[in-house]
Amino acid sequence: MTLKEITHDLHRTAERTAFSRLLVSGKITQQQYAQYLYQMALVYSTIETGVKEIGFMEQLPGLERSSHIYHDFIELAGEQQEAFIFLPATLAYHHYLMQLLSDDRRRHLIRAHVYCRHMGDLFGGQIIAKRIPGSGKFYQFAQPEALRSQIRALLTPDLGEEAKVAFEWTIRIMRDLSASFGIEEPRKASNQDNTLTA
Ligand code: HEM
Repeated sequence: MTLKEITHDLHRTAERTAFSRLLVSGKITQQQYAQYLYQMALVYSTIETGVKEIGFMEQLPGLERSSHIYHDFIELAGEQQEAFIFLPATLAYHHYLMQLLSDDRRRHLIRAHVYCRHMGDLFGGQIIAKRIPGSGKFYQFAQPEALRSQIRALLTPDLGEEAKVAFEWTIRIMRDLSASFGIEEPRKASNQDNTLTA
């Protein structure tokens, strides 16, 4: 089974969260999108620091997103930067990643988080890019096709469970973001969506 197949149901759940829907609605406000970027700045800098330390970055030229995310955040947050906070799920994901990266036997699994986040940006991210405020440097890749192949070349079947974990963290952050803005999650359409209990 490919990682795409393994994470299929979780991708659906992620795509259907209220905040994902807001991201592609064309109606997200500057403040809501800046809050999303603020969360992503911590997530991506943690993942990318790990990728660099382990030595995968040389195989993934152009992967680095954190400085682009920070650029987009500054552009939108302006003078209000200090008003943004890390949500509980963002901090918990950060701590989870720090633990993963400090464990010699598990740190190679960081590739599953690159798959979930960066590969997602190379696909669905390209749709989001057209609907959000600001210049969207987050989603601009110099050589997207090459990077997709380079990420795929690092993926192995043993990453399946960790890829699911990565999706679950993203779903939690999306739900925290919605809750922080008082946005209700859509009603569950079927039991298939009932993957997470949190
Ligand atoms: C805003 C909602 C989203 C939309 C509209 C969206 C859309 C898409 C589309 C159109 C594709 C490519 C089509 C395909 O191969 O099936 C894709 C692939 C992917 N998306 Fe999403 N997506 C969304 C949210 C997410 C989220 C939140 C994540 C995880 C953080 C994610 C991770 C991925 C990954 C990893 C792939 C690559 C699958 C593969 O080819 O192995 N997506 N997405």
